[in-house]
Amino acid sequence: MLFQAILTLALNTLLSQAQTVNTTIQVSISSTPDTTSAVKLSPSLVSFSIEQDLWAEWVGTTTKNAFFYNALDNLQKLTGEPPFIRIGADSEDHTNFDFGTQISSTIFPAYTTTTPYPEATNITVGNGFYDLAAQLPAGTHVWWGVNFRDSNITAAYLEAMAIVKAFKSAPFLAAGITLDFLEIGNEADLYAEHGLRPVGYGPDQYVPDWTAFATNISVATALYNTQTRLVGGAFASSTHTVNGLSPQGIITSGILDSGAGSLITLISQHHYSGSFCSGSGGLLQDLMTKSTIRSNLSSFSPDIQATQQKGLQYVLGETNSYSCHGAPGVSNTAGAALWALDYILYAAQIGISRVHFHDGIGYKYNLIQPVTLTRSILDGTPLATPLAPHIQPAYYAAIITAEAIGRSGSTQAVEITIDDDRIAGYAFYEAGILVRAILINSQAFFQGETNRGSVHVDLAIDSNPQTMTIKRLSIGYADDTAGVTWGGQTYETPDARVSGKPTVEAVAVSAGVDIQDTEVVLLTFA
Ligand SMILES: *[C@@H]1O[C@H](CO)[C@@H](O)[C@H](O)[C@H]1NC(C)=O
Ligand SMILES: *[C@@H]1O[C@H](CO)[C@@H](O)[C@H](O)[C@H]1NC(C)=O
Ligand SMILES: *[C@@H]1O[C@H](CO)[C@@H](O)[C@H](O)[C@H]1NC(C)=O
Ligand SMILES: *[C@@H]1O[C@H](CO)[C@@H](O)[C@H](O)[C@H]1NC(C)=O
Ligand SMILES: *[C@@H]1O[C@H](CO)[C@@H](O)[C@H](O)[C@H]1NC(C)=O
Repeated sequence: MLFQAILTLALNTLLSQAQTVNTTIQVSISSTPDTTSAVKLSPSLVSFSIEQDLWAEWVGTTTKNAFFYNALDNLQKLTGEPPFIRIGADSEDHTNFDFGTQISSTIFPAYTTTTPYPEATNITVGNGFYDLAAQLPAGTHVWWGVNFRDSNITAAYLEAMAIVKAFKSAPFLAAGITLDFLEIGNEADLYAEHGLRPVGYGPDQYVPDWTAFATNISVATALYNTQTRLVGGAFASSTHTVNGLSPQGIITSGILDSGAGSLITLISQHHYSGSFCSGSGGLLQDLMTKSTIRSNLSSFSPDIQATQQKGLQYVLGETNSYSCHGAPGVSNTAGAALWALDYILYAAQIGISRVHFHDGIGYKYNLIQPVTLTRSILDGTPLATPLAPHIQPAYYAAIITAEAIGRSGSTQAVEITIDDDRIAGYAFYEAGILVRAILINSQAFFQGETNRGSVHVDLAIDSNPQTMTIKRLSIGYADDTAGVTWGGQTYETPDARVSGKPTVEAVAVSAGVDIQDTEVVLLTFA
């Protein structure tokens, strides 16, 4: 026993030493964007998808929810454009409309340990529900979902009429808040599985079903004369094949060919990296790992190509780390910020023009918790002290992306080829000139570990810039849920506004940069 214990101890010491050996890697960055791989980044590349059962709490009723507003406005200040907001998701398909309801009334199931904040099963909304969106930041582009799941065309029709009416009203016009898309049904590819459509409900059944709703809605709301268009797909689990429920499948079955179908200008799909209702360090490292991020996203490449061949835009309209509203101790941690950052930037590289992070009140994977919570997001335990509105670590991924994009309106990005399985990098160009680079060290460094590893990156840039500044995302441990700082500043404030003195290091480019395990650096070239 003793011998075994000593052996295990020795082995662990060896292993932990092996992990913490510092390495040096050489990284070449081109001073001009590669014409074949450079992609233009949308200023709203990081956007949101909001579960609509508690929409009124997100946005505020009698007055705007300043915390949510500020969290969005921070991003607008950095890129010049507020995040795009999708409202709906699962609860859009549990919603009916009633003229007599002022804002909304909701019925929630009992919460459980695994689902501390469940989605409402029944939502009844009135005109006021949609009117609240006028409290979003001025200039926000909105996309709203209507109920398709219940096969009740009257419900979908009344909702669409109310949505279009709201966005034509004076407060929306004054603020330039626009209804860019209507979505008819959330994850209709799962309806048959849930007994809501017949077995064998494939593209040939879905297309006429959807078209009947889309025709009614587009004629009734005179959508042709507005700037509002329709979302195609919104599927949860693409087959990636032409004979299944996928973009290519519904295009082959003729979804674009009807009058209403011609209003589809965007294909949306949903993605989670798996479903885990309990978390672990291994799961967090899997999430952060460069190769799993790439394989998760590149599985959509056939769908993206089929979409782009038709001249349509492709977005992830609903996504986040793990379904189950996130894995506890994983989705709500600092490590998830590194996942989100690499995920967003890699998505853009393969033709995904926006990434809408799904957030619902109290969900574990949120970037933003916009209201006071009275029970634990991890297991539903009542909290001794209510938790005031706050951002979660993944919000820093949105901030870093926004800073990297900047306000040029035409920033391009290229993934930097790095022969290392934990260092990912992206170069950013304005007017064809290298301005910034992001490097991510996705090796998880956990609480309880010592000897944090570090990678030294030597840079080779053909234009030989002499100096650069380094801004760091500082994280104690990958499994921390707070205490993250970005260039010395924090967004973990009562009003979501940034606080603290900014700190960057100015160094010679020839000195390179050290990046610790579980760290991000933003390099800005002079
Ligand atoms: C949903 O709520 C509305 C309004 O309270 C009610 O009329 C309706 O019967 C409910 N539907 C279900 C399926 O519970
Ligand atoms: C749409 O459906 C609703 C509800 O059935 C109906 O009242 C309305 O007349 C329809 N509109 C069009 C343009 O088909
Ligand atoms: C469909 O929605 C309408 C409008 O709210 C409602 O009056 C009607 O009862 C619904 N039909 C069914 C079958 O639920
Ligand atoms: C997606 O990432 C998860 C880790 O977060 C991994 O377990 C899973 O296998 C990946 N899926 C694909 C298709 O690469
Ligand atoms: C590893 O790099 C860090 C700086 O990032 C340094 O503090 C540490 O001493 C280095 N360890 C070894 C073994 O070289």
